[in-house]
Amino acid sequence: MATNTNLMQASQYDAYGGGPAGLKHVQVPVPTPNKNEVLLKVEAISINPVDWKIQKGVLRAFFFPRKFPHIPCTDIAGEVVQIGPQVNDFKVGDKVLTKLPLLYGGGLAEFAVASESLTAAIPSEVSAAEAAALPIACLTARDALTQIAGLKLDGTGHLRNILVTAASGGVGHYAVQLAKLGNAHVTATCGARNIDFVKGLGADEVLDYRTPEGAALRSPSGRKYDAVINCTSGIPWATFDTNLSEKGVVVDLTPDGSSLMTSALKKLTFSKKKLVPFFVNVKREGLEYLLQLVKEGKLKSVIDSRFSLSKAEDAWSKSIDGHATGKIIVEP
Ligand SMILES: NC(=O)c1ccc[n+]([C@@H]2O[C@H](COP(=O)([O-])OP(=O)(O)OC[C@H]3O[C@@H](n4cnc5c(N)ncnc54)[C@H](OP(=O)(O)O)[C@@H]3O)[C@@H](O)[C@H]2O)c1
Repeated sequence: MATNTNLMQASQYDAYGGGPAGLKHVQVPVPTPNKNEVLLKVEAISINPVDWKIQKGVLRAFFFPRKFPHIPCTDIAGEVVQIGPQVNDFKVGDKVLTKLPLLYGGGLAEFAVASESLTAAIPSEVSAAEAAALPIACLTARDALTQIAGLKLDGTGHLRNILVTAASGGVGHYAVQLAKLGNAHVTATCGARNIDFVKGLGADEVLDYRTPEGAALRSPSGRKYDAVINCTSGIPWATFDTNLSEKGVVVDLTPDGSSLMTSALKKLTFSKKKLVPFFVNVKREGLEYLLQLVKEGKLKSVIDSRFSLSKAEDAWSKSIDGHATGKIIVEP
Protein backbone atom coordinates (compact mmCIF):
# COMPACT_ATOMS: atom_id res chain seq x y z
CA MET A 1 0.00 0.00 0.00
CA ALA A 2 1.28 3.48 -0.89
CA THR A 3 2.40 5.60 2.05
CA ASN A 4 1.08 9.15 2.14
CA THR A 5 3.88 11.64 1.61
CA ASN A 6 1.75 14.75 2.14
CA LEU A 7 1.92 16.80 5.29
CA MET A 8 -1.00 18.00 7.43
CA GLN A 9 -1.61 20.43 10.28
CA ALA A 10 -2.14 18.89 13.71
CA SER A 11 -2.12 19.89 17.39
CA GLN A 12 -0.10 17.67 19.69
CA TYR A 13 1.60 17.64 23.06
CA ASP A 14 5.00 16.26 24.01
CA ALA A 15 4.64 15.52 27.72
CA TYR A 16 2.16 15.32 30.62
CA GLY A 17 0.88 18.65 31.93
CA GLY A 18 1.04 22.04 30.30
CA GLY A 19 -2.68 22.54 29.67
CA PRO A 20 -3.59 24.65 26.61
CA ALA A 21 -0.01 25.97 26.31
CA GLY A 22 1.22 22.36 26.01
CA LEU A 23 -0.62 21.96 22.68
CA LYS A 24 1.78 22.66 19.82
CA HIS A 25 0.82 23.34 16.21
CA VAL A 26 2.85 21.03 14.00
CA GLN A 27 3.08 19.69 10.46
CA VAL A 28 3.21 15.91 10.37
CA PRO A 29 2.74 13.30 7.63
CA VAL A 30 -0.84 12.41 6.71
CA PRO A 31 -1.38 8.91 8.19
CA THR A 32 -1.84 5.90 5.90
CA PRO A 33 -4.84 3.60 6.47
CA ASN A 34 -4.14 -0.04 7.31
CA LYS A 35 -6.16 -2.78 5.66
CA ASN A 36 -9.30 -2.31 7.80
CA GLU A 37 -9.05 1.47 8.16
CA VAL A 38 -10.36 4.55 6.38
CA LEU A 39 -8.53 7.86 6.03
CA LEU A 40 -10.75 10.86 6.83
CA LYS A 41 -10.43 14.48 5.90
CA VAL A 42 -11.56 15.75 9.28
CA GLU A 43 -14.44 18.27 9.29
CA ALA A 44 -15.31 18.40 13.01
CA ILE A 45 -13.66 17.26 16.24
CA SER A 46 -15.37 17.27 19.61
CA ILE A 47 -13.42 17.90 22.80
CA ASN A 48 -14.24 15.70 25.79
CA PRO A 49 -12.89 16.26 29.33
CA VAL A 50 -11.09 12.91 29.08
CA ASP A 51 -8.87 14.40 26.33
CA TRP A 52 -7.28 16.98 28.63
CA LYS A 53 -7.44 14.64 31.63
CA ILE A 54 -5.12 12.27 29.72
CA GLN A 55 -2.76 15.21 29.11
CA LYS A 56 -2.88 15.93 32.88
CA GLY A 57 -1.72 12.37 33.48
CA VAL A 58 -4.93 11.07 35.09
CA LEU A 59 -4.55 7.75 33.21
CA ARG A 60 -0.75 7.64 33.48
CA ALA A 61 -0.85 4.46 35.58
CA PHE A 62 -2.60 2.77 32.63
CA PHE A 63 0.06 4.08 30.15
CA PHE A 64 -2.26 6.61 28.44
CA PRO A 65 -1.26 8.01 26.03
CA ARG A 66 0.70 5.17 24.45
CA LYS A 67 3.55 7.51 23.42
CA PHE A 68 4.62 11.14 23.00
CA PRO A 69 4.20 13.25 21.01
CA HIS A 70 0.45 12.60 21.19
CA ILE A 71 -2.25 14.05 18.96
CA PRO A 72 -5.29 14.03 21.29
CA CYS A 73 -9.04 13.65 20.63
CA THR A 74 -11.12 10.72 19.48
CA ASP A 75 -14.56 11.92 18.39
CA ILE A 76 -14.40 13.10 14.79
CA ALA A 77 -16.54 13.44 11.69
CA GLY A 78 -15.34 13.92 8.14
CA GLU A 79 -15.13 12.65 4.59
CA VAL A 80 -13.51 9.38 3.55
CA VAL A 81 -10.60 10.17 1.20
CA GLN A 82 -8.83 6.79 1.12
CA ILE A 83 -9.74 3.23 2.17
CA GLY A 84 -7.67 0.23 3.20
CA PRO A 85 -7.85 -2.84 0.89
CA GLN A 86 -10.20 -4.80 3.17
CA VAL A 87 -12.71 -2.01 3.86
CA ASN A 88 -16.16 -3.06 2.61
CA ASP A 89 -18.66 -0.69 4.17
CA PHE A 90 -17.32 2.70 3.05
CA LYS A 91 -16.06 4.34 -0.12
CA VAL A 92 -14.22 7.55 -0.95
CA GLY A 93 -16.58 10.52 -0.60
CA ASP A 94 -18.70 9.05 2.25
CA LYS A 95 -19.42 11.34 5.22
CA VAL A 96 -18.70 9.40 8.41
CA LEU A 97 -18.53 9.61 12.19
CA THR A 98 -15.89 7.68 14.07
CA LYS A 99 -14.43 7.09 17.51
CA LEU A 100 -10.65 6.72 17.61
CA PRO A 101 -9.01 4.75 20.45
CA LEU A 102 -8.29 6.91 23.53
CA LEU A 103 -4.89 5.30 23.88
CA TYR A 104 -3.68 6.58 20.49
CA GLY A 105 -5.94 9.59 19.82
CA GLY A 106 -5.12 11.23 16.50
CA GLY A 107 -8.26 13.36 16.09
CA LEU A 108 -6.99 16.92 16.52
CA ALA A 109 -5.67 17.13 12.96
CA GLU A 110 -6.65 17.72 9.35
CA PHE A 111 -6.63 13.97 8.57
CA ALA A 112 -7.02 10.84 10.71
CA VAL A 113 -7.22 7.09 10.17
CA ALA A 114 -10.12 5.23 11.74
CA SER A 115 -11.08 1.60 12.16
CA GLU A 116 -13.95 0.59 9.87
CA SER A 117 -15.56 -1.23 12.78
CA LEU A 118 -15.91 1.98 14.82
CA THR A 119 -17.11 4.13 11.94
CA ALA A 120 -20.70 4.94 10.93
CA ALA A 121 -22.22 6.71 7.92
CA ILE A 122 -23.63 10.18 8.66
CA PRO A 123 -27.12 10.79 7.22
CA SER A 124 -27.26 13.86 4.93
CA GLU A 125 -29.58 15.63 7.39
CA VAL A 126 -26.88 15.65 10.13
CA SER A 127 -23.94 18.11 10.07
CA ALA A 128 -20.36 17.08 10.80
CA ALA A 129 -20.37 19.11 14.05
CA GLU A 130 -23.67 17.61 15.25
CA ALA A 131 -22.26 14.13 14.56
CA ALA A 132 -18.79 14.67 16.07
CA ALA A 133 -20.43 15.86 19.30
CA LEU A 134 -22.01 12.45 19.88
CA PRO A 135 -19.65 9.50 20.54
CA ILE A 136 -18.29 9.73 24.09
CA ALA A 137 -20.76 12.25 25.53
CA CYS A 138 -24.00 10.89 24.14
CA LEU A 139 -23.16 7.18 24.36
CA THR A 140 -22.22 7.69 27.99
CA ALA A 141 -25.66 9.18 28.56
CA ARG A 142 -27.45 6.47 26.58
CA ASP A 143 -25.62 3.52 28.11
CA ALA A 144 -25.84 4.86 31.67
CA LEU A 145 -29.59 5.36 31.25
CA THR A 146 -30.30 2.04 29.56
CA GLN A 147 -27.72 -0.37 31.05
CA ILE A 148 -27.69 0.93 34.64
CA ALA A 149 -30.84 3.01 35.16
CA GLY A 150 -32.93 0.48 33.20
CA LEU A 151 -34.70 2.96 30.91
CA LYS A 152 -36.16 1.85 27.59
CA LEU A 153 -35.60 4.69 25.15
CA ASP A 154 -38.62 3.73 23.04
CA GLY A 155 -40.70 4.89 26.02
CA THR A 156 -42.25 1.48 26.73
CA GLY A 157 -40.83 1.20 30.26
CA HIS A 158 -42.34 2.29 33.59
CA LEU A 159 -42.21 5.94 34.58
CA ARG A 160 -38.95 6.45 36.43
CA ASN A 161 -37.64 9.47 38.30
CA ILE A 162 -34.20 10.43 37.02
CA LEU A 163 -31.83 13.11 38.28
CA VAL A 164 -29.20 14.43 35.86
CA THR A 165 -26.46 16.58 37.41
CA ALA A 166 -24.57 19.14 35.28
CA ALA A 167 -27.42 18.88 32.79
CA SER A 168 -26.11 21.82 30.73
CA GLY A 169 -22.83 20.04 29.89
CA GLY A 170 -21.81 17.65 27.14
CA VAL A 171 -23.10 14.45 28.75
CA GLY A 172 -25.89 16.09 30.74
CA HIS A 173 -27.66 17.80 27.85
CA TYR A 174 -27.90 14.47 26.04
CA ALA A 175 -28.93 12.60 29.21
CA VAL A 176 -31.93 14.91 29.73
CA GLN A 177 -33.14 14.46 26.16
CA LEU A 178 -32.69 10.68 26.16
CA ALA A 179 -34.31 10.26 29.59
CA LYS A 180 -37.39 12.07 28.24
CA LEU A 181 -37.47 9.67 25.25
CA GLY A 182 -37.41 6.93 27.88
CA ASN A 183 -40.58 8.21 29.55
CA ALA A 184 -38.77 9.45 32.68
CA HIS A 185 -39.63 12.33 34.98
CA VAL A 186 -36.41 14.34 34.82
CA THR A 187 -34.99 16.56 37.54
CA ALA A 188 -31.81 18.35 36.52
CA THR A 189 -29.12 20.55 38.07
CA CYS A 190 -27.29 23.36 36.28
CA GLY A 191 -26.23 26.96 36.85
CA ALA A 192 -28.84 29.75 36.98
CA ARG A 193 -28.00 31.01 33.48
CA ASN A 194 -28.83 27.61 31.95
CA ILE A 195 -32.17 26.88 33.67
CA ASP A 196 -34.29 27.84 30.64
CA PHE A 197 -31.92 25.98 28.33
CA VAL A 198 -32.24 22.75 30.36
CA LYS A 199 -36.05 23.12 30.60
CA GLY A 200 -36.02 23.52 26.82
CA LEU A 201 -34.30 20.13 26.53
CA GLY A 202 -37.31 18.62 28.31
CA ALA A 203 -36.36 18.58 32.01
CA ASP A 204 -39.45 18.66 34.25
CA GLU A 205 -37.72 20.30 37.25
CA VAL A 206 -34.46 22.24 37.25
CA LEU A 207 -32.34 23.16 40.28
CA ASP A 208 -29.61 25.79 40.39
CA TYR A 209 -26.64 23.89 41.84
CA ARG A 210 -25.35 27.01 43.58
CA THR A 211 -28.48 27.30 45.82
CA PRO A 212 -28.96 25.27 49.04
CA GLU A 213 -31.88 23.33 47.43
CA GLY A 214 -29.76 22.59 44.37
CA ALA A 215 -26.76 21.50 46.43
CA ALA A 216 -29.11 19.24 48.42
CA LEU A 217 -30.41 17.76 45.10
CA ARG A 218 -33.93 17.95 46.54
CA SER A 219 -36.73 17.46 44.00
CA PRO A 220 -39.17 20.42 44.25
CA SER A 221 -42.08 17.99 43.84
CA GLY A 222 -40.74 15.69 46.59
CA ARG A 223 -39.79 12.85 44.26
CA LYS A 224 -37.22 10.24 45.20
CA TYR A 225 -34.88 9.35 42.35
CA ASP A 226 -34.76 5.84 40.88
CA ALA A 227 -31.49 6.77 39.19
CA VAL A 228 -28.98 9.62 39.17
CA ILE A 229 -26.75 10.28 36.16
CA ASN A 230 -24.00 12.07 38.05
CA CYS A 231 -21.86 14.15 35.69
CA THR A 232 -20.10 16.08 38.48
CA SER A 233 -17.69 15.12 41.22
CA GLY A 234 -17.58 15.86 44.93
CA ILE A 235 -21.21 15.23 45.89
CA PRO A 236 -21.15 13.16 49.13
CA TRP A 237 -22.99 9.84 49.26
CA ALA A 238 -25.19 11.13 52.12
CA THR A 239 -26.69 13.73 49.76
CA PHE A 240 -27.63 11.06 47.24
CA ASP A 241 -28.79 8.67 49.97
CA THR A 242 -31.56 10.93 51.29
CA ASN A 243 -32.87 11.56 47.76
CA LEU A 244 -32.84 8.02 46.36
CA SER A 245 -35.83 5.70 46.15
CA GLU A 246 -35.59 2.36 47.99
CA LYS A 247 -33.61 0.69 45.18
CA GLY A 248 -32.16 3.86 43.71
CA VAL A 249 -28.86 3.82 41.83
CA VAL A 250 -26.26 6.54 41.28
CA VAL A 251 -24.26 6.21 38.07
CA ASP A 252 -20.87 7.73 38.81
CA LEU A 253 -19.17 9.09 35.69
CA THR A 254 -16.15 10.47 37.56
CA PRO A 255 -15.15 7.69 39.95
CA ASP A 256 -12.44 8.53 42.48
CA GLY A 257 -11.01 6.69 45.50
CA SER A 258 -13.80 7.76 47.81
CA SER A 259 -16.66 6.87 45.46
CA LEU A 260 -15.06 3.51 44.63
CA MET A 261 -14.91 2.78 48.38
CA THR A 262 -18.57 3.72 48.79
CA SER A 263 -19.50 1.58 45.83
CA ALA A 264 -17.66 -1.44 47.27
CA LEU A 265 -19.20 -0.85 50.69
CA LYS A 266 -22.72 -0.77 49.24
CA LYS A 267 -22.04 -4.13 47.60
CA LEU A 268 -20.50 -5.73 50.69
CA THR A 269 -23.40 -4.66 52.89
CA PHE A 270 -26.03 -5.83 50.33
CA SER A 271 -27.39 -2.29 50.24
CA LYS A 272 -30.47 -1.85 48.04
CA LYS A 273 -29.19 1.58 47.04
CA LYS A 274 -26.18 1.42 44.76
CA LEU A 275 -23.32 3.55 43.48
CA VAL A 276 -22.07 2.25 40.13
CA PRO A 277 -18.80 3.52 38.58
CA PHE A 278 -19.28 3.72 34.84
CA PHE A 279 -16.94 3.95 31.84
CA VAL A 280 -18.37 4.17 28.35
CA ASN A 281 -17.47 1.63 25.68
CA VAL A 282 -18.24 3.09 22.25
CA LYS A 283 -19.43 0.67 19.55
CA ARG A 284 -20.54 1.26 15.96
CA GLU A 285 -24.11 0.22 16.82
CA GLY A 286 -24.28 3.08 19.31
CA LEU A 287 -23.03 5.63 16.79
CA GLU A 288 -25.59 4.48 14.22
CA TYR A 289 -28.40 4.54 16.78
CA LEU A 290 -27.62 8.11 17.86
CA LEU A 291 -27.17 9.41 14.31
CA GLN A 292 -30.61 8.00 13.48
CA LEU A 293 -32.17 9.82 16.47
CA VAL A 294 -30.58 13.11 15.35
CA LYS A 295 -31.75 12.49 11.77
CA GLU A 296 -35.32 11.91 13.01
CA GLY A 297 -35.22 15.11 15.06
CA LYS A 298 -35.61 13.20 18.36
CA LEU A 299 -32.20 14.27 19.68
CA LYS A 300 -30.09 17.37 19.14
CA SER A 301 -26.44 18.14 19.66
CA VAL A 302 -26.11 21.59 21.19
CA ILE A 303 -22.86 23.28 20.18
CA ASP A 304 -21.39 25.62 22.81
CA SER A 305 -18.64 27.00 20.61
CA ARG A 306 -16.58 26.32 17.50
CA PHE A 307 -12.85 26.90 17.07
CA SER A 308 -10.49 26.55 14.12
CA LEU A 309 -7.64 24.03 14.41
CA SER A 310 -5.20 26.96 14.65
CA LYS A 311 -7.05 27.96 17.87
CA ALA A 312 -7.26 24.42 19.32
CA GLU A 313 -5.68 25.67 22.57
CA ASP A 314 -8.70 27.98 23.08
CA ALA A 315 -11.08 25.03 22.70
CA TRP A 316 -8.90 23.08 25.16
CA SER A 317 -8.99 25.96 27.63
CA LYS A 318 -12.78 26.30 27.29
CA SER A 319 -13.24 22.61 28.11
CA ILE A 320 -10.83 22.74 31.07
CA ASP A 321 -12.83 25.71 32.39
CA GLY A 322 -15.82 23.35 32.79
CA HIS A 323 -18.57 25.82 31.90
CA ALA A 324 -19.59 24.83 28.39
CA THR A 325 -23.28 24.68 27.49
CA GLY A 326 -23.36 21.58 25.28
CA LYS A 327 -20.32 20.59 23.23
CA ILE A 328 -17.09 22.29 22.14
CA ILE A 329 -16.14 21.70 18.51
CA VAL A 330 -12.91 22.25 16.55
CA GLU A 331 -13.17 22.59 12.78
CA PRO A 332 -9.97 22.20 10.71
N1 LIG B 1 -17.06 7.63 32.78
C1 LIG B 1 -17.24 7.94 31.49
O1 LIG B 1 -17.30 7.05 30.62
C2 LIG B 1 -17.39 9.39 31.12
C3 LIG B 1 -17.80 9.74 29.83
C4 LIG B 1 -17.98 11.08 29.54
C5 LIG B 1 -17.71 12.05 30.51
N2 LIG B 1 -17.27 11.67 31.73
C6 LIG B 1 -16.99 12.67 32.76
O2 LIG B 1 -18.20 13.29 33.11
C7 LIG B 1 -17.96 14.64 33.47
C8 LIG B 1 -18.88 15.55 32.68
O3 LIG B 1 -18.50 15.51 31.31
P1 LIG B 1 -19.08 16.59 30.30
O4 LIG B 1 -18.52 16.30 28.97
O5 LIG B 1 -20.56 16.67 30.45
O6 LIG B 1 -18.42 17.93 30.92
P2 LIG B 1 -18.66 19.43 30.53
O7 LIG B 1 -19.40 19.53 29.24
O8 LIG B 1 -17.35 20.11 30.63
O9 LIG B 1 -19.60 20.00 31.72
C9 LIG B 1 -19.73 21.38 31.80
C10 LIG B 1 -21.06 21.73 32.46
O10 LIG B 1 -21.10 21.29 33.81
C11 LIG B 1 -21.82 22.24 34.58
N3 LIG B 1 -21.42 22.09 35.97
C12 LIG B 1 -20.17 22.19 36.48
N4 LIG B 1 -20.19 21.92 37.81
C13 LIG B 1 -21.50 21.65 38.12
C14 LIG B 1 -22.16 21.30 39.34
N5 LIG B 1 -21.49 21.16 40.49
N6 LIG B 1 -23.50 21.06 39.29
C15 LIG B 1 -24.18 21.18 38.13
N7 LIG B 1 -23.61 21.54 36.95
C16 LIG B 1 -22.27 21.76 36.96
C17 LIG B 1 -21.43 23.57 33.98
O11 LIG B 1 -22.43 24.52 34.27
P3 LIG B 1 -22.01 26.03 34.69
O12 LIG B 1 -21.31 26.59 33.51
O13 LIG B 1 -23.30 26.70 34.99
O14 LIG B 1 -21.11 25.89 35.89
C18 LIG B 1 -21.32 23.22 32.48
O15 LIG B 1 -22.52 23.48 31.76
C19 LIG B 1 -16.47 14.90 33.22
O16 LIG B 1 -15.76 14.79 34.43
C20 LIG B 1 -16.07 13.78 32.28
O17 LIG B 1 -14.72 13.43 32.34
C21 LIG B 1 -17.10 10.37 32.06
